[in-house]
Amino acid sequence: MSHFNRTLVTAALPYANGPKHIGHIAGAYLPADIYVRFLRNIGKEVIFVCGSDEHGTAIPIQAAKEGTTSQAIIDRYHALLKLNFEQLGIQFDIYHRTSAAIHHETAQEIFKEMFDKGLFTEDVSEQYFDEQAQTFLADRYIKGTCPSCGYDNAYGDQCEKCGKTLSPKELINPVSTLSGNSPILKETKHWYLPLQNYEPWLKEWLIEGHKNDWRSTVYGQSKSWIDGGLTPRAMTRDLDWGVKVPLPNAEGKVLYVWFDAPIGYISATKALFKELSENKIEYAYPEHTVLKNVQADDWKKWWQDEDTRLIHFIGKDNIVFHCIIFPAMLKGTNQYILPDNVPANEFLNLEGDKMSTSRQWSVEMEDFVKDFEGKEDVLRYVLTAIAPETKDSDFSWKDFQTRNNSELVAILGNFINRITVLTHKFYEGGKVPFAKSISNNESELIAEISRCQNSIQQHIENFKFRDALSELMNIARAGNKYLAENEPWKTIKTDQDRTDVVMYHGLQLAAHLAWWMEPFMPFTAKKLYQILNFQKYKYQIQEFEQLPSGHSIGEPVHLFSNIDDELIQKQIDKLQKNKQERLDSTIQAILNDDISNDLKPTITFDDFSKIDLRVGTILEAEKVEKADKLLKFKVDIGFEQRTIVSGIALHFSPESLIGQQVCVLANLAPRKIKGIESNGMLLLAENEDGSLKLMQPAEPAKPGSKIA
Ligand code: 2FM
Ligand code: ZN
Repeated sequence: MSHFNRTLVTAALPYANGPKHIGHIAGAYLPADIYVRFLRNIGKEVIFVCGSDEHGTAIPIQAAKEGTTSQAIIDRYHALLKLNFEQLGIQFDIYHRTSAAIHHETAQEIFKEMFDKGLFTEDVSEQYFDEQAQTFLADRYIKGTCPSCGYDNAYGDQCEKCGKTLSPKELINPVSTLSGNSPILKETKHWYLPLQNYEPWLKEWLIEGHKNDWRSTVYGQSKSWIDGGLTPRAMTRDLDWGVKVPLPNAEGKVLYVWFDAPIGYISATKALFKELSENKIEYAYPEHTVLKNVQADDWKKWWQDEDTRLIHFIGKDNIVFHCIIFPAMLKGTNQYILPDNVPANEFLNLEGDKMSTSRQWSVEMEDFVKDFEGKEDVLRYVLTAIAPETKDSDFSWKDFQTRNNSELVAILGNFINRITVLTHKFYEGGKVPFAKSISNNESELIAEISRCQNSIQQHIENFKFRDALSELMNIARAGNKYLAENEPWKTIKTDQDRTDVVMYHGLQLAAHLAWWMEPFMPFTAKKLYQILNFQKYKYQIQEFEQLPSGHSIGEPVHLFSNIDDELIQKQIDKLQKNKQERLDSTIQAILNDDISNDLKPTITFDDFSKIDLRVGTILEAEKVEKADKLLKFKVDIGFEQRTIVSGIALHFSPESLIGQQVCVLANLAPRKIKGIESNGMLLLAENEDGSLKLMQPAEPAKPGSKIA
């Protein structure tokens, strides 16, 4: 990385539509913060920008939910997020917001520039329109049945049940969530980014160019997107919340949130230099010369100078936007640098289940800082130790407790406590002793520390924060081992010189720990600096001697304390309670559904025994031409395969049914439906709202098994 003059680090702009949880922190903000702090500490030019993403439909939807305005929502959550980041020690150079005027101007300028260069295509298409609300409907405002899994509350952009990405037109029985009516299709004009034009360039820049330096998960997802074929993507929306499209005759249209949000990185950088040049904000790091005496225009060198390296920290759900769409925009304008790396993380689960604020299965930042005041670094430590860098990982409260008690307290805290307490015990005024002649033990210790330090640096530079952290702990382990083997508490009685050598080396190790732990645990590093009564900012840490002989250290204080079972149990109980409540309310909702009592006339057992019901497995399923409602199936009923036609096409997509088991009425007389002979019937349960559920055996059963 050394040939770069400067590094611009961004972390995904979080939507200001609600609190953020520890999964978000582990995904993007914490690794970015560690990376930036480390670069700052080694004296590199680096800036770190972020801010709230205040556009898109997420905001008005939250406003409607809370019965307030979009502006009130963004103001509330912008303030909350900014505060929570600060509380967790995430040290942005600026935490901006996309509702700021400078952002609107910047996004409009870039859009206009691309428009003038002919980089957009215009297209009139049919979009869902709510006649009662007199508005086009954003994807999230349309709900309907998922064509893939049959879930009847799927959103127009995604089914939350099966996770499939959807477009509103794929929904079966779409309904507007604004009025509850069925929307109509109406023509509207939009501007599209023809991504297919960037394909040759993306193949060269990304597929060839970043084969080896991007994480395989990031590279793989990007490549498969490109390989799947790129198509034009609308960069504008019909919505009244967002950055207005800066063209005539574009009333009621705003920029697509994913067009303007990444531009937020640029506008935040602009705002940073503008505010610094006008002395509106303070320099966060007085030692850090990169932001001294700046001009408003200096943002350009961070975005337009090839010597700047751009790194985006994001979660995996943002990969396509940061690796393909935003780079295509930047490439199109031809004025900006492109991301050098996008170290996206996978997801963090919670106690084995997907983390979700709305399902109340999460640890919110705001709750953590309240419930664990003073333990922010423990969270930073644990989230780094289990960072989902290569695959999804799991946060559990028990593991959190164990890592605190048996790693932070027992290894790191214990070493610092021992060495500082002994120093005060052995030396008047806690003075660092003189080390006369050193032995092999010291040479080994110094070599091990130096190995760990090189390794930490390499891992951080390669975005392997988990590995870096484990090497940091190895320094502390080496310290404990060194004390245990050299036993200064024993030698003090017999050999003052030897004791001095050991204490001197132990103290230097403590000072090194303070410097190397700072990116990971800044609050604890500060505490340790105080205990050792010194401060090192610059990269002078190569010198083994950090604390000169005769230097007085401060009073020993415990760096960490044990977390007891009760505190942990409280968190576990809270989650379990939320889960139980969710379950109860689902059951309640089902029970509340009125079911009519219009029973058919009673039949005899003989009547019933005429019916032959069998378990079948659906082998094939396809739509019947010119019949919207019909699906044609091939069903295996054990002793033979049947063709069955069923009127359920509006409820299920054919693909979703292949492989499913279902109850079949096997001795129904054959019937011709649309010219196809149907031999039997599939059984389904019909809810009062008309939605259908397949009748299936609870466990897989052999096709042909009798149902009685
Ligand atoms: O997924 C999200 O939370 C988006 N708000 C991230 C935007 S990142 C960038 F483009 F601003
Ligand atoms: Zn689905």
